[in-house]
Amino acid sequence: MGNDKKKIVFLTGAGMSAESGIKTFRDTNGLWENYPVMDVASADGFARNPALVHQFYNMRRADLLKAQPNDGHRLVAELEKDYDVYVITQNVDNLHERAGSSNVLHLHGELMKVRALDDESKVYELKPEAIETTPETIIDGHHVRPHIVFFQEAVPMIEPAIDIVKQADIVVVIGTSLVVYPAAGLLSFAPPSARLFYIDPNPAVVPNRVNVIKKGASEGMKELIKQL
Ligand code: APR
Repeated sequence: MGNDKKKIVFLTGAGMSAESGIKTFRDTNGLWENYPVMDVASADGFARNPALVHQFYNMRRADLLKAQPNDGHRLVAELEKDYDVYVITQNVDNLHERAGSSNVLHLHGELMKVRALDDESKVYELKPEAIETTPETIIDGHHVRPHIVFFQEAVPMIEPAIDIVKQADIVVVIGTSLVVYPAAGLLSFAPPSARLFYIDPNPAVVPNRVNVIKKGASEGMKELIKQL
């Protein structure tokens, strides 16, 4: 049964979690400055040296356990009382969920999940007390890999994401450099009638019809709410 609430779709990237202390990828001292992306986050890298890839995601899980959602995550979640809120995130952290968002679609996978190497439908949530995996880890009788979309792999959730953006009354991009496709192309599927916003202290170039709020996620969300 549909409801009369307007549909607001958030497209979030690493900048959404920056104020929670999680490193972004392409800012100064970002993850890709310190780790060779094709060794730790690509299909070839995983085939070449799975132990290194497991180690990289173990480190990122450890960082995530120390992080808390920030005001930006919380303000997104609070909008659910007045809007039909959809969060489509490139982030693999669970900070949107922990802030209370109930409708989160992860385009690039989820850090706290692994899946069976021999059956990708078997996905397992890691417990906070057991976040480390190696190529030798066995869960439910299966060797596992990070439940992450590596570079060179398809983005299976892109179609559902496009369908959601096509129905939006409002689309809000937060904290992404808009350089990684197909995620970066989602904004172009917004209906001509939709209101578009982009919250980012160092925004990428976007079409003129997008209202750019040149602020961080938390301050930017406060500004957005004034304009809604
Ligand atoms: N608030 C909001 N945005 C911020 C903040 C902040 N406090 N700090 C930085 N940003 C912005 C930066 O200006 C930049 O536009 O966040 C963006 C981070 O860009 P990237 O590091 O490229 O992250 P993202 O766009 O999410 O990367 C996309 O690339 O490596 C892959 O799979 C990975 O999902 C990731 C994808």
